[in-house]
Amino acid sequence: MSTENWTYVLDDKQLEEGQMTPVYPLGVNVVVTRVGGTVYAVSGTCAHMACPIFMGKLDGYTICCPCHDWRFDVRTGKFIDAPELGLPAFPVKSESGKLFVNLE
Ligand code: FES
Repeated sequence: MSTENWTYVLDDKQLEEGQMTPVYPLGVNVVVTRVGGTVYAVSGTCAHMACPIFMGKLDGYTICCPCHDWRFDVRTGKFIDAPELGLPAFPVKSESGKLFVNLE
């Protein structure tokens, strides 16, 4: 993974525990969440029929899509009922109070 491809998405303090929010690094639709103090990033477009993931519900490590209730693990992006399916997951880092996502 290249160290050059980290894209700022928002300030660390803007994302509270148990919150998920849409961000658009380089125009890509991504959802970031903070669970157990760790920040995760997955694609913001559902793997089923492309509904906006950020409008769903976050329950622990599980995001439930608002359209047809497909559930995904925020840590891996995997579809809970069929792990061979899922959302792309992206590395996240915090540096100097800012959150960065790597889309590679
Ligand atoms: S679009 Fe997400 S479950 Fe159908």
